[in-house]
Amino acid sequence: MINEQKVKQLFEEYTKTYNPDDPKISLKITHTYKVAENSKAIAQSLNLSQDDIEIAWLIGMLHDIGRFEQIKRYQTFNDVKSVDHAEFGADLLFKAPLLINDFIETREYDVIIETAVRQHNKFRISEDLDERTAMFSNIIRDADKIDIFRVQVEEPIEGIYGVPFEYIKAQNISKEVFEQFKEHHSILRSTKVTHMDYYVGHFSLAFELVFPYSRKLTIDQGYLTKLLTLQTDNKETQKKIDFIKEEINKCLLE
Ligand SMILES: [Fe+2]
Repeated sequence: MINEQKVKQLFEEYTKTYNPDDPKISLKITHTYKVAENSKAIAQSLNLSQDDIEIAWLIGMLHDIGRFEQIKRYQTFNDVKSVDHAEFGADLLFKAPLLINDFIETREYDVIIETAVRQHNKFRISEDLDERTAMFSNIIRDADKIDIFRVQVEEPIEGIYGVPFEYIKAQNISKEVFEQFKEHHSILRSTKVTHMDYYVGHFSLAFELVFPYSRKLTIDQGYLTKLLTLQTDNKETQKKIDFIKEEINKCLLE
């Protein structure tokens, strides 16, 4: 139903107009392909039909389509300072200029694709989704989180945070952030104060993974394990990191 090669080619043509040599753009291009692969692997683990596996992959390819126009218009990936990139991307796909028509011929899956793209970055998914739409939304959300671990390992920290890693490592983990690790859920943005809060905040995404295979994929890819080897001279922070590491490892092996 979906021609992967054609979709990849269309995606390449689309992103070409946004300067793929810009590291911010190339980061999002690589992320897109990785998330699409993760989505496909999760969908396969759920024994979905071939069509549904292809839809899960396509949602992966399209989930961050709003990022490119976001950076062009606002010169930032910060949604708070610009637009919600998920809503923005879904509008580009399904309102104007109706990009979706280029990527898939049938309109049968539009509601699922649109909802999953809109839901992919929300703190919690909407409660009123039907089971099938919720499943596709959870697949992209898991796939995206798994690749965020890779990005934190592979991309230069200073490029992401704007300050040297040594500077971040000397910082504290705020009390309210640490409390949320004890509760085994991801960290609310509004409670993050230090750069360290943001850095370790990514680790907490592991608590939110919905599908068992997503936890397996996270372990197999090894990026989160690598992140958890974090060592610092700040004794208070190190104690908290050791605790966080244990809690996350417990959760991954559940
Ligand atoms: Fe995103």
